[in-house]
Amino acid sequence: MNTLNNTTLIEIPKVHDERGSLAVVEKDVIPFEMKRVYYLYDVPSDSFRGGHAHKEQESVIIALSGSFEVIIDDGNDHKRIMLNKPTQGLYVPTNIWREIDNFSSGAVCLVLASTNYNENEYVRDYDLFCKLQRRTV
Ligand code: TYD
Repeated sequence: MNTLNNTTLIEIPKVHDERGSLAVVEKDVIPFEMKRVYYLYDVPSDSFRGGHAHKEQESVIIALSGSFEVIIDDGNDHKRIMLNKPTQGLYVPTNIWREIDNFSSGAVCLVLASTNYNENEYVRDYDLFCKLQRRTV
């Protein structure tokens, strides 16, 4: 069973010179093989995203621009993490509930995902998520 201890902040290597910065996500930077990239943008500041867990998908969430907060929850404990650096990724393994809120103006939330999109592997009901977590304790 995954718990909050299995979520980690990943440092993304960057190259900086007087022309600006360049960050690189190569195979060995994230703990899974990437299948899909998607991003959230134009998110109103009072809106929240996520509100689900994944049975199969692992993710790395990056604030490519601006900032937002990610609430991660293992059904037993939760914490709130602010992401505001394009060189920092939050690794979220399977079976961790996540919500994202407090989007700054112009924020872009990039998600690197280990699976193709499949609605069947989502858990979108928090009570069901907690029940499933208890079953795997
Ligand atoms: P949703 O899962 O609600 O977004 P978030 O959890 O990031 O707030 O997805 C919004 C819509 O987009 C929903 O109809 C499913 C669709 N979608 C895809 O078609 N492909 C994808 O890769 C993703 C992530 C979502």
